[in-house]
Amino acid sequence: MALTSEPLTSITLTPRTGAEVKISREALLSGSHSQALRALLVARGVLVVRDLHLTDAEQRGFARTMGDLRLGTVKKEGDEGLQKVTLDETENPDYARFFFGSQLWHMDGTYEEVPPFATILTPRVLSNTGGDTEFTNNYAAYEDLPDSEKPFLDTLLVAHSMQAALFPAKPDCSPEEFALWCGYPVRRHPLVWRHKSGRKSLVLSTSASHIIGMHPTESRDLLNRLMAHATAPQYIYRHKWRMGDMLMWDNTGTMHRVLPFDARSGRRLHRFTLNGEEPVTATL
Ligand code: OGA
Ligand code: MN
Repeated sequence: MALTSEPLTSITLTPRTGAEVKISREALLSGSHSQALRALLVARGVLVVRDLHLTDAEQRGFARTMGDLRLGTVKKEGDEGLQKVTLDETENPDYARFFFGSQLWHMDGTYEEVPPFATILTPRVLSNTGGDTEFTNNYAAYEDLPDSEKPFLDTLLVAHSMQAALFPAKPDCSPEEFALWCGYPVRRHPLVWRHKSGRKSLVLSTSASHIIGMHPTESRDLLNRLMAHATAPQYIYRHKWRMGDMLMWDNTGTMHRVLPFDARSGRRLHRFTLNGEEPVTATL
């Protein structure tokens, strides 16, 4: 195993978001580039490596070199940390029924005190139509806001809920489903994340229900305006999946959504998640 790391070779995918890293399987899996990859991930929001064709064990091993792997409940040997992102309930009985919500712009785990740091996906079954995944850059979106607005925005606290995230994606839900979503905790986060690096990003997601202490109409207008700003074309990287890809995103500084696809396609991606390393810090 190499003990020193060569500089990483990468190309930017759009001016504000995403980088494609050119690296061999061997170099990637050795872990010797993990610090450089983490720095690039946070700088670009999304990293893509093509033509890797990783097994679950290799994907997990790589995830472990990048941070603190979330293990979840292990049902079967060999499944540690693996989550299957699919609408097929036989493949993922616990979570398949929540993934329809992924079609709206979101960050993962905003119901948690410390949202996940990063997620690593590889495709296993793709849909012939649709199913691209889009990403934003919530650091860039914050940095581009007028300086006159930032001091006020820095003071705001936002309530995030599962129900706010999922109801707009399924307004014809059953009362039982709605009750299930409402059973999840409502979490308050600052609107602006001041990261331990010193940089700031917007904590925006469809899960943002309302701004604490603000009139509901004003709060909805502001959240809609910020969402429109953060999802403007100049911040978006759209990933067209190819078998063999590995894609990783910094969940603390981006949003993502999947574009509509054929629900009968069996679309399935294998996912490993890295635990968060810092709470969303108040800027007060
Ligand atoms: C996720 C997610 C998007 C996709 O895994 O959290 O939103 O393209 N996935 O399936
Ligand atoms: Mn998601």
